[in-house]
Amino acid sequence: MRLNPARLIKGRLRLPGDKSISHRAALIAALARGSSEISNFSTAQDCASTLGCLRSLGISIEHEDGRIVFAGSQELVAPREPLDCGNSGSTLRILAGVLAGCDFTAELVGDESLSSRPMRRIIEPLELMGARIQSTEGKAPLRVRGTAKPVPITYKLPVASAQVKSAILFAGLNADGRTTVIETTQSRDHTERLFNGFGVPVTTNSDLSVTLDGPARFTGGAITIPGDVSSAAYFVAAAMLLPQSELTIEGVGLNPTRAAFLSVLSSWGANIETTDVQVERNEPHGTINVRGRIGRSATESDRTLGQSMIPSLIDELPLLAVVGSQIDGGIRIRDASELRLKESDRLATTAANLRAMGAEVEEFPDGLAVSGPTQLHGALLDSHGDHRIAMAFAVAALLAKGETEITGAECVAISFPEFFPLLESVVQR
Ligand code: S3P
Repeated sequence: MRLNPARLIKGRLRLPGDKSISHRAALIAALARGSSEISNFSTAQDCASTLGCLRSLGISIEHEDGRIVFAGSQELVAPREPLDCGNSGSTLRILAGVLAGCDFTAELVGDESLSSRPMRRIIEPLELMGARIQSTEGKAPLRVRGTAKPVPITYKLPVASAQVKSAILFAGLNADGRTTVIETTQSRDHTERLFNGFGVPVTTNSDLSVTLDGPARFTGGAITIPGDVSSAAYFVAAAMLLPQSELTIEGVGLNPTRAAFLSVLSSWGANIETTDVQVERNEPHGTINVRGRIGRSATESDRTLGQSMIPSLIDELPLLAVVGSQIDGGIRIRDASELRLKESDRLATTAANLRAMGAEVEEFPDGLAVSGPTQLHGALLDSHGDHRIAMAFAVAALLAKGETEITGAECVAISFPEFFPLLESVVQR
């Protein structure tokens, strides 16, 4: 993909449904008593992987007028073939939790990137709940022998991970008694919100523990998935950095465990307003209005991202590093070693691409320091097959002098197939 610099961003957008919420809504609809209809379901390849796995587990899923319809009141059945999770960590990890509570064996497989990512984080708690899971040194493929009656557990998460928390909560649905997951740092809470929204009470306590009393079954229903706030982030950042920009994005998810980048960008001088906030099945959504940045300089503490902030910014950190290269004094990201375990080693791939564009970057085991402001220059960049790297550097390319080429940029389809055409629709050169 070749990209040229932009003058400004102008327009009004609506985005396909949130990827994280879509995965969970599909799993809930598959397990529910009664039928369900999901509107604005994510167009991400990752979410198609979740639907494909559910079909292999015997679930009937129809596409009707842009909605996804689940017949409901079905039981999952042993799949005849391995369940292909593609590139999707959420599919593999959360589905492993569902399978831990099913009385059959299933195999979960993924692509090369997914097969290199750590799975002990789900294997350990799900085995404590009674499942038996075979892996190759803690990596996929995973062979999950589930149990009809998982053991309810109290489990303290060693890493802040919404996928692990969700796997345990889905397994807890079939357990006889109370399942408790204790987090040290709050991760995205879509599972908790949607469980409550579809009739399975989950309590979040002030000590960051989450409890679920099993056995419990969802009641099916309709949901419209809010626009994906992580997809919106690329447009918001581009509009912030290009003076004279004016962009409106309607119907975007504004869950505080996901939308933290909006306050970070505001503290870096962005001119962002959210309006028309409404709530759908406990998930807030609304309109984001962004204008080109006012030249206010950020404080040093605002320019340091660490500790408790990291989980709610996790997928936006490569993009924030790109934005950081344009901020007076630059930015620092620490306590983010989890980024090395994503679709690519996102600390390494972000640093390499920023350096290729002329930015000064220091890499730490758990973060990055990016100097700023820097006039980036066009360069030949590698996406490393990682959708978030491709999109973060497409934004960088709009700010650069000269043309940028991103190899493997088609990987944006993992989360956002419409990304490049939508970007072109709002860019003015
Ligand atoms: C996700 C959780 C995060 C995030 C991923 C989606 C989810 O991963 O990076 O893109 O849908 O629960 P971890 O739970 O591993 O941090």
